[in-house]
Amino acid sequence: MEIPTLDKFPKKVLAGIDVQRAFIVSRLIVAAERVQVFRALHGKRMKAAAIRRALKIHDFYRDTFLNSLVSLGLLHKKGNTYWNSRFAEKYFIDERSIYWTRQYSKECVQAYEALTVLEKALASGRTSASIRGVKKPRYTERMKRDRREAEDFTQMLFHFHQDDAEALAKYLNLSRHRTLLDVGGGSGVMSIALARRNPNLRACVLDLAAVCKIAAGNIRRAGLSKRIRTLAGDIRRKLPAGYDVIMFCDVGMVSRQLLQNAYASLPPRGLLVLVDRYLSEDRTQPPDRVVAQFVGSSFPQATWSEMVAAVEARGFQAVKAGRVHRDLWCITGTKPAMGFE
Ligand SMILES: C[S@@+](CC[C@H](N)C(=O)[O-])C[C@H]1O[C@@H](n2cnc3c(N)ncnc32)[C@H](O)[C@@H]1O
Repeated sequence: MEIPTLDKFPKKVLAGIDVQRAFIVSRLIVAAERVQVFRALHGKRMKAAAIRRALKIHDFYRDTFLNSLVSLGLLHKKGNTYWNSRFAEKYFIDERSIYWTRQYSKECVQAYEALTVLEKALASGRTSASIRGVKKPRYTERMKRDRREAEDFTQMLFHFHQDDAEALAKYLNLSRHRTLLDVGGGSGVMSIALARRNPNLRACVLDLAAVCKIAAGNIRRAGLSKRIRTLAGDIRRKLPAGYDVIMFCDVGMVSRQLLQNAYASLPPRGLLVLVDRYLSEDRTQPPDRVVAQFVGSSFPQATWSEMVAAVEARGFQAVKAGRVHRDLWCITGTKPAMGFE
């Protein structure tokens, strides 16, 4: 899936965007996603009045809002009729699931709120949530409480991680392994791709109960219910035994405790797999990961060599790190045959 980063915007639009406008423009696009204007106009032309009714936006802003989107190359306009540009159809409809539209745009709004106190955060070292006096529950807590959020977040990643999953299945040879524990396996996207690639592999997706329900649906639709099961639980607790591969893919920081839990549950010669978009050695790449810390993200702020060192320190052997594709890394390590503790 491609993300409509600013460089993909038409040149004449880009030429007119300075830093201040870039901020306004990006917030406007988020609003367009929140009210789902591109979905309302998907494959059809509508008059301004009909769009206003469908989107429930006020008359006062109707034309300015729609005309702004035209100025950005996202809508076309003739008289009083508007329709999606090819750019909008590609990036906001074809390349995105409805889950992405709902979840990602909501996260964007939260990010803007966090950024209003950025200077105070820089000066004090405090989080934006504590400066603003708001409680920011972890995303897992929100998913436990709100089924819609669990579905939107999980299915957003199901679509978003398809390319990563296929690349990982090509990269990671599990033909000699029988059972995989996919810790924080979410939608099941990684397990599904790995099971397809390795016909002898059985997998288990360990995640929150609300997420497991959604994963089970994806696994059923993939026709893999006989080989992939789900297990509701907390990934920070003791991990179940009986799996010869334990994988952590995009689950935030894999702490020493999680590595220890994986080590304890793996059999001798069992394989540990870590997959994530780690920071480059000089901590300047990938840019989206580097800056995410300012909006309270739980993405790991570790470099791949730091993770390699942590895996080795826990006692895994033959530790290897490799680039799966783009900036996705995979680190593997084997528990020694004697399984020294
Ligand atoms: C960013 S998602 C990644 C999902 C999947 N591994 C993938 O790559 O698409 C992280 C997943 O870890 C799960 N997770 C995080 N902390 C957890 C916890 N303490 N117990 C159970 N699941 C947890 C979340 O529910 C979520 O599904």
